[in-house]
Order: sequence, then structure tokens, then C-alpha cells
Amino acid sequence: MTIAPETVGELREIAARYPQSRSALLPMLHLLQSSEGFVTAEAIEVCADVLDISAAEVSGVATFYTMYKRRPVGDYHVGVCTNTLCAVMGGDLIFERLKDHLGVGNDETTDDGKVTLEHIECNAACDYAPVMTVNWEFFDNQTPESAVALVDDLAAGNVVTATRGARVCTWREAERVLAGFPDDRADEGPAAGPASLAGLKLARERNWRAPEPSSESTTGDAIAADQAAKSSRTESDVAVAASPADTADSAGPKSDSNSDGKAPDAGGTH
Ligand code: FES
Repeated sequence: MTIAPETVGELREIAARYPQSRSALLPMLHLLQSSEGFVTAEAIEVCADVLDISAAEVSGVATFYTMYKRRPVGDYHVGVCTNTLCAVMGGDLIFERLKDHLGVGNDETTDDGKVTLEHIECNAACDYAPVMTVNWEFFDNQTPESAVALVDDLAAGNVVTATRGARVCTWREAERVLAGFPDDRADEGPAAGPASLAGLKLARERNWRAPEPSSESTTGDAIAADQAAKSSRTESDVAVAASPADTADSAGPKSDSNSDGKAPDAGGTH
């Protein structure tokens, strides 16, 4: 086995964080991407061994999610959103320009191993379209020119900071953070910006409010009230069932009905 014993120890540490250890598979795969560079065949075997599940189950997860890679990734994973809004705002142009500039296609890595280029789906950052990511840090409102300058800075080893986030680290370092081993960058940089809050600002200026829930509503309050009523009824059912009138020794026929005339339900609550 080429996976270091320290890494296997950390995999077991991650697994121990969860009531059901198989829930740890996603961060475990991130840790292995950090240590091995991608999800290797051996990485799949060691996950299966630690979690006591089959290699096929691990492989099914690792091949389903696009954040798990089956071949080596460069120092910097550069994502260009080409989903609808980013595409019409220039994402397609950015992606084409970077392919030409870097000399790679989608999901390919430059010969020097520095940059892997991938077109990505919507990152829920449409308010800053067109958006790019570097090792999942946001770069907002990009242009073909700013995108080229960004990848040149990365390739040159310059310090690069996200427009809405932290300093960019290497892909392997970022994968370790995703595995649940934080570094010192968590609080760096802004998170939300004016574009994210524009709708809230407009609603406040115009005094727009969400409608009040109707009596037919299934909002959280209505559901809580319904559950409280059922809980209260169940407690009274228990009290009735425990009364002398409902015991086997009591005179008179034993009823299978609750106080409201309905058959008792097996679960007590729904
Ligand atoms: S379409 Fe690009 S972030 Fe949503």
C-alpha cells in the first residue's frame, strides 16, 4: 500500500465523527484527493476497508460527483461557469479564451501541471456572472482578459486572492480543508456583496413582505401546531387507556376506539 499510515489514521478519525461511519465517505474522498492527488484505485479500496462497505459502493460515489477526480489535477483547478446566466454574460467566451491560452481542453491539465481547466455548472453565484472559481474560491464578474491575467498569475506563483473569499491555496491544500481539517483562511475576505443583497434592499425600500400564512398553510408554525395537537391527544389517549374503565378487569365491553371515536393508531404520532 502506498497510502501513508498517517492518512489512514486520519481517514479513521473522519469516520469516527459520524454516528453512521459510511456518512464519512465524502470527506474521506476529499482527504485522499489531498494526499494522493486524485481518487486512485487504492483510495477506493482503503475507504471500503475503513467503512466496511464494498469497493463498488465507494466507486459509485466517487464517479457520481464531479468534485471527485479519477486522474491527477493541477496545482490550481480553474472552473469557468458556463451555465445559462454566466454563459450569456460571457462565460462561454472566457472558456474558449482560456482553452486557447492554456492549450488544453475541458478537464485537461497544462503540461507544467499548474492549471486544470474545467467548465462547471451553476455555482449559485449568478449575481456576479460571469463567475470563475479557483480551487472553489469565487472570482466574480470576469472577462476573457481578467481570466487570462488570473491564470498567468497562478502559473507564475503570484499570491492570488479571491474577489469574494480567501487567498488561493493549492488544490491539494483546498481538498484537505474540504475533508474537515481547516487552515487559517476561513475568515479571510468578504462573503456576500451588494449584488447578493440587492433584492433584500429593494424589498425593504418598497415595504414588500411575504404574505401571512393562511389557515390551510403548511408552514413551519402550522406544522408545529398540528404536531402539538396530536401529541396532546396521544397523551390523553394514554391516560384514558390507563384508567380502570379500560383495564381487562373492568366491567363492561372493552372499546377499541379513542375518546374521539377513531381507532387508535399504532405509532402514537404521525
Ligand atoms: S449561472 Fe453561473 S453561477 Fe449561476
